[in-house]
Amino acid sequence: MKKTILITGGAGFIGSHVVRLFVNKYPDYTILNLDLLTYAGNLENLGDIDTRPNYRFVRADIRDTDQLSKIFSENEIDGIIHLAAESHVDRSITDPLAFINTNILGTVNLLNVARDSWKDKMNGKRFYHISTDEVYGSLGKEGFFYETTAYDPRSPYSASKASSDHLVMAYYHTYGLPVVISNCSNNYGPNQFPEKLIPLAINNIKNSKPIPVYGKGENIRDWMFVLDHARTIDLIFHKGRTGETYNIGGHNELKNIDLIHKLCEVMDNRLNRVRGTSAKLITFVKDRAGHDLRYAIDSSKLQNELGWMPSLQFEEGIEKTVDWYLSNQEWMDHVLSGDYEKYYHNQYHKR
Ligand code: NAD
Ligand code: DAU
Repeated sequence: MKKTILITGGAGFIGSHVVRLFVNKYPDYTILNLDLLTYAGNLENLGDIDTRPNYRFVRADIRDTDQLSKIFSENEIDGIIHLAAESHVDRSITDPLAFINTNILGTVNLLNVARDSWKDKMNGKRFYHISTDEVYGSLGKEGFFYETTAYDPRSPYSASKASSDHLVMAYYHTYGLPVVISNCSNNYGPNQFPEKLIPLAINNIKNSKPIPVYGKGENIRDWMFVLDHARTIDLIFHKGRTGETYNIGGHNELKNIDLIHKLCEVMDNRLNRVRGTSAKLITFVKDRAGHDLRYAIDSSKLQNELGWMPSLQFEEGIEKTVDWYLSNQEWMDHVLSGDYEKYYHNQYHKR
């Protein structure tokens, strides 16, 4: 069936994997990738599919209503997968307003434009908002996040995502906008910007630089390979029930310090270093302010309703990830050539 799907943030980490999956899997769909190309957006992520006839890129800012209205008036958009966001917790601690503007106001702009352009024909439309498990706050040693867990965000990033989730649901209840939301745990894999733990650590290990571990490294995250998330987004976009929220989790809970040790082993192996060489780079640094202790997802709703299962385990995913970064040094060099040095200096040398 012919459809035009607008994917926002499609030049970013997760977005680029979602764009690729949709372009390849659905030749009858036109995939419109809307991205501002901030520091985190990179069209090199899509070099292998950017000349495909069912793919188009449009550089635009979700904070700009006029740009969004123009795109909607020029295209008959059937579905939206909304990933565009400021996504890094540490940056939200330094500059909260950027997160409010993009993640909250930008999302409201998109909701308004979708509602206005779909007002006479909501049937068959879908506004899919991609969110995070961080909206639920922080767990102790036990327990899981369920779709019914009360929101309790604790960083400017997670508060901005929580706010956008509430607004998306408000547009469902108030205007009948056909929305669906998913809240996913930590992603890792190819094309992730090296401000996030795993690609940053890979890059530092490769260059024999210290690996900064916040606090004591006791914090726990539930890791999901990015292609697994993209596949799940495809499932929920097509089969998820309107007005519902689905939790997506990797079933791969790891303490940061254990994750880093595993990563060091893989890196020693791949770089032909003596076992234990990379682990010597581990450096404990000042903790992140308000650092959430543990995230863990219960994804039984997704499993029971949509027959979903997580596929890739961390051991396999981390090897694939390391191999990708080691064989894509040019990608890393380009990414590092922007303002990265300045960011890294401000973030780590003052700790
Ligand atoms: P990312 O930072 O890699 O990519 C974000 C993309 O959004 C970039 O391409 C950027 O250019 C674009 N963007 C930023 N501001 C924009 C604006 N004003 N207008 C248009 N485009 C803009 O992020 P990611 O890690 O791929 O995350 C994507 C989405 O998934 C986010 O909404 C994030 O909250 C959510 N999420 C991420 C994770 C994770 O582990 N990375 C987990 C769960 C949910
Ligand atoms: O849970 C989903 C979220 O996962 C997404 O919504 C966010 O967009 C994504 O950035 C990620 O957030 P985290 O804060 O969990 O990811 P990050 O890679 O920044 O950090 C992972 C853990 O590692 C966290 O406990 C902080 C720690 N850390 C991070 C960095 C960058 C370190 O110890 N050292 C570091 O240098």
